[in-house]
Amino acid sequence: MTRAGGAGGRKPTLAVVGATGAVGTVMLSILSERADVWGEIRLIASPRSAGRKLTLRGEQVEVVALREEAFEGVDVAMFDVPDEVSAQWAPIAASKGAVVVDNSGAFRMDPDVPLVVPEVNAHAARVRPRGIIANPNCTTLSMIVAMGALHAEFGLSELIVSSYQAVSGAGKEGIDALREQIALVAGTELGTHPGDVRRAVGETGPFPAPMALNVVPFAGSLKEDGWSSEELKVRNESRKILGLPDLRVTATCVRVPVITTHSLAVHARFENEVTVEAAHEILAGAPGVVLCDNPAEGEYPTPADVVGTDPTWVGRVRRSLDDPKALELFVCGDNLRKGAALNTAQIGEVIAAELTAA
Ligand SMILES: NC(=O)c1ccc[n+]([C@@H]2O[C@H](COP(=O)([O-])OP(=O)(O)OC[C@H]3O[C@@H](n4cnc5c(N)ncnc54)[C@H](OP(=O)(O)O)[C@@H]3O)[C@@H](O)[C@H]2O)c1
Repeated sequence: MTRAGGAGGRKPTLAVVGATGAVGTVMLSILSERADVWGEIRLIASPRSAGRKLTLRGEQVEVVALREEAFEGVDVAMFDVPDEVSAQWAPIAASKGAVVVDNSGAFRMDPDVPLVVPEVNAHAARVRPRGIIANPNCTTLSMIVAMGALHAEFGLSELIVSSYQAVSGAGKEGIDALREQIALVAGTELGTHPGDVRRAVGETGPFPAPMALNVVPFAGSLKEDGWSSEELKVRNESRKILGLPDLRVTATCVRVPVITTHSLAVHARFENEVTVEAAHEILAGAPGVVLCDNPAEGEYPTPADVVGTDPTWVGRVRRSLDDPKALELFVCGDNLRKGAALNTAQIGEVIAAELTAA
């Protein structure tokens, strides 16, 4: 660790950069709900939002514009802004003395930046040569706590996942686009002829195709050999968090018309033979995981039930019919809570405890 830190016995000062966005909004409610480890909390966004008042810990707090002076005296800065804004401003905040916890994709694969999920690799947060800790992407985060628990017992050797990603993964713009499209198609006969939904919704917002009455087999941007950026994130970030650089990972990322909560169908192969009973026992006892697996009673996680909750929910646990070392599971996690703001808040609390103790 290169950063000094030490809040000298006082509660550390926190800055939330991007306080007005989809993740930032959830961050403010999480900071209001959780044990209050922070002294002053400064809310920062673009100059467009300067002067707006947001509710935090039961009070109205004014948003200030992002500029260097906004980081004076800040101990921890949580960044919930687009990649390019983090890339420019996180090093500036770090140079002003703050430990940065960054939610964007700007630093996740930087070898000098730990990628942290407190339930899986909290120890990694202690070594942060650039003064920056990265928060994984929401799709990886929605499954990794459960996979980390199973890996600790069985030794993970391969993941094949299909995601069912909510539109809020694309921020406020994504939520607005689906809401508008739902209003346009509600009560119509649309969805029976090629192109009729597309014509009715017109502009598709941040998505490459209509989201209402549809499923879109593409999320993120196009990378080499036909893979999407989201699919590569699941592969690279899972490897880094689990400390398994050679883990075989294949992902197909799909966007579905859900506002918030990502789901994943996971085929997980292990070094050792597995049983459903042992997997149930591990998942039921794992911190941050809820086992919800009784299909005979219609019990399995769905986004409609999971949204707004903190844990990773796991159901439909089956042993592969062809491979005694493989499990099939269905996992749901709120992409704005554990998938983003909650994990950042948890990392922030680890740092706050470290600074307070220093
Ligand atoms: N949504 C998810 O599920 C999710 C999950 C994990 C990680 N993330 C990552 O978290 C970050 C935020 O995502 P989001 O979904 O919350 O996006 P969003 O809803 O579009 O919000 C973006 C935030 O960044 C601020 N911002 C934009 N440009 C800025 C600038 N030039 N200077 C200062 N502030 C600026 C915005 O402020 P104004 O309101 O003033 O424009 C707003 O507060 C992204 O990097 C995203 O990839 C998102």
